[in-house]
Amino acid sequence: MADREPLMQRALEARHNAVAPFSKFLVGAALETADGHIHTGCNIENASFGLTLCAERVAIFKAISEGDRRFVRMAVAADTENLTPPCGACRQIIWEFCGDIEIILVNPSGKSETFRSADLLPRAFDASFLS
Ligand code: THU
Repeated sequence: MADREPLMQRALEARHNAVAPFSKFLVGAALETADGHIHTGCNIENASFGLTLCAERVAIFKAISEGDRRFVRMAVAADTENLTPPCGACRQIIWEFCGDIEIILVNPSGKSETFRSADLLPRAFDASFLS
């Protein structure tokens, strides 16, 4: 059983880098590779709103841009009692780039809950339909 604490801690820390002047909703993500490396991300908003990037996608694209392709779990941190799950767009990207990984939701009080990405996006569309 993997120790998820460091991953959750990194997501909580990454949250503090969020650029969210419009929503004021700070989110952090931490993505663990198959060889134990951790990539972090935070949400980044901008004045046109629609170009906002969620913490999860920032972490995934950072990891891919650094050459990592195999992932085992992701932690997502936000300050909500009802733990914040990835949005629909992020669920699609998580599925396509990470496959069926563990998704650990956490808040600053230490509450956490674990899901599988396959359960968060049932009957997913992906590249297998394009061949
Ligand atoms: N957000 C994330 O970064 N990840 C989530 O899982 C939910 C939503 C961001 C996007 C936006 O900057 C703010 O939270 C409010 O939606």
